[in-house]
Formats: sequence, structure tokens, C-alpha cells
Amino acid sequence: MLGLKSRTDVAWVDRVEQHVDEVLVDHAHCEKKAAGTALNMIFSYVERVDVVESLVEIVKEELDHFRLILGVIGRRGIAFRGQPQSAYGHRLGEHVRTTEPDKALDRCVVAALIEARSCERFILLRDHLRDPDLAALYGSLVESEARHHGLYLRLAQRFVPESAVRRRFEELATLEASILAEPGPLPRLHA
Ligand SMILES: [Fe+2]
Ligand SMILES: [Fe+2]
Repeated sequence: MLGLKSRTDVAWVDRVEQHVDEVLVDHAHCEKKAAGTALNMIFSYVERVDVVESLVEIVKEELDHFRLILGVIGRRGIAFRGQPQSAYGHRLGEHVRTTEPDKALDRCVVAALIEARSCERFILLRDHLRDPDLAALYGSLVESEARHHGLYLRLAQRFVPESAVRRRFEELATLEASILAEPGPLPRLHA
């Protein structure tokens, strides 16, 4: 799905259901980080007006998602707090190269992969969560994650040719699947 090299087992949803509060807090942090990722890219490539306009849209949408999940957390009486993160994002980030345009390419591809995995898992949550309100919440977020995935891949093509984007996507998608294949100790959206 969306170029991912592995499929999340539906048993992952059971784990989410056993730790809903913790996963919702993780989700809020993920949306905040997604906004931060796009904002950091604006700072890095601010002279690229064509790139910046798309990134602004992503920042706005991710912040809306952040506020949405904060609202859900508040209504459920869950305390929003800092919590240990899964290693997923950090481990993917270690593969971002340091010289341009490889760096821009890798940042876009890593972001595209994270969006794709979120989308894949939101579909599972939409289809299998027993709590109808939460299932509807995740269903409402599927489209935007799929769109962000496509958008980051198109942004990558503003920096390097399409063939280079495809090649790097294949490499990093394989890596992404291998990172998730090692089960993380914490109940998280990306673990
Ligand atoms: Fe989002
Ligand atoms: Fe997103």
C-alpha cells in the first residue's frame, strides 16, 4: 500500500485497544512532529517558493490534526503529557544524507514513508477499532495522510529527477519495513 514494503498485522489494533489513552497521546505528538517536519523544511528551503507553498499547507493541516487530537484527549479526560517516543522516526532520520540535493530528497522520502505508514494504520483503526467514535476519527484522517504522502514525493521531484526519487524510495521503504519488523516495547502508532 502506497509503496510500503510490509503490511501491519491486524493484531496491532488489539494492542492499540489495550492502550488507547497512551496511543492517543502518542498520536497528538505525531501530528505536532509532522507539523514541525514541514516547518523545518520551510526554514531550510525558504527561497524555493514553489516548495514552500505546499509545505505551508501541510503545516496548517497537521496543526489542525494536532488540535483535533488534543480535543479528543481532553474530552476523554486524558492528561496530555510528554512520553517516551518510539525509535521509528529517529531511526529513519539517521538515513537522511547530509549534502544537498540528497538531503532534501531523503527528507521528503522519509516524510512520505511516515505519512504512508500512518495512512495504512489509520485504515486498520478505521476498520477494526470497536469504539465507533475512534474508528470514525481515524477514518476522517485517512485521506489527508495519503495526500501528504503524494505531496512529499512530488516535492522530492523539485530537487532531483523522478527516477532518483523512485530509487531512493525503494531503498528507504525497505529500511522502514525492517525497522517496524522489530516490535517496539511501547504501544505507539509507529511501533
Ligand atoms: Fe496528520
Ligand atoms: Fe500527514
